[in-house]
Amino acid sequence: MKQKIENLLKQFETKKEAAKTIADAEAIRLEFMGKKGYINELMAEFRNVAPENKKEMGMLINSLKTSIETGLGELIQAKKDEELENQLKNDKRIDYTLPVNQTIGALHPRTILQKQIIDAFVSMGFTIEDGNEIETEYNNFDSVNVPESHPARDMQDTFWLDNGEVLKTQTSAAQNRILKTHGPICRVLFPGRCFRNEELDATHENTFFQIEGVVVDKNVSVSNLIYFMKEMLKGVFKKDVNVRLRPGFFPFTEPSFELDTTCPLCGGKGCSACSHTGWIELCPCGMIHPNVLKEAGIDSKEYNGFAFGLGFDRLVMIKTGLDDIRRLNGGNVKLLSQFGTKI
Ligand code: DAH
Repeated sequence: MKQKIENLLKQFETKKEAAKTIADAEAIRLEFMGKKGYINELMAEFRNVAPENKKEMGMLINSLKTSIETGLGELIQAKKDEELENQLKNDKRIDYTLPVNQTIGALHPRTILQKQIIDAFVSMGFTIEDGNEIETEYNNFDSVNVPESHPARDMQDTFWLDNGEVLKTQTSAAQNRILKTHGPICRVLFPGRCFRNEELDATHENTFFQIEGVVVDKNVSVSNLIYFMKEMLKGVFKKDVNVRLRPGFFPFTEPSFELDTTCPLCGGKGCSACSHTGWIELCPCGMIHPNVLKEAGIDSKEYNGFAFGLGFDRLVMIKTGLDDIRRLNGGNVKLLSQFGTKI
């Protein structure tokens, strides 16, 4: 019987080699595995094997069965692949002489700038955090010192959801959670997509991007804020730029500022990107309001800090020369991919 098993395996291998089509493979299956096939024949003979040889013979038959099953599987798959290949070759609709399309796409200019800004802050010891896009009213407003009665709520046209939550109008919505988890001593940067129910025009989108940063420690000062922003700009524009502060108003900061930078394109001489003023409005910022620190459980007598909320779509427009913010969300791959290596 042992000899028979060995011969069957050899026979199977020879037939497998010779098979040309799926039909051939099916015929082999029947011959070996079918009802009246060799394997069943073997099983019938197995009943008469002496008990002391049953174990060995059983194992040999099993391994023969497995080899044939695997071999058949491989054979059928190979024949199917061959048939498909032949079909495709004969399909006149496909022109195999056409060159391969090598377009691999490019990073969005916004993604590239965000990475450059992140890299600059990471090198200054910042941790990066992600925010939610749907936020509670508390996180988006109350926790950052914007109670219901506050006029600042009307400044941001909010998309309210049926359950009372909001599409976050500002990355500041993550401040409370971040100060609670990272504070009281921390440097955190949290980029994110924000939404406001705005009239759309060349400089306003209902979906836009901000990068928020907070630094909390002992004895933080406005000059620290200026230093960090200048370093970041140096990292992004690869040259020294000047910044200036103008007074601003935001409920989360006291005092609040608007930070401008010398135009990175003309170096402050005046060009069309900076409306010939030499300055570009960069970001609102300020010293974190004690109420915001207290709400996050930080002792505002011992610790203080600064925060900024950089609407960086403006920077992307300056870097790319695109004069309409809507193009950034437009998804025109041809337009956007040209900045992939340029930016
Ligand atoms: N959240 C503000 C807005 O979207 C921007 C902002 C202002 C963020 C001052 C800050 C800040 O962190 O300190 O209008």
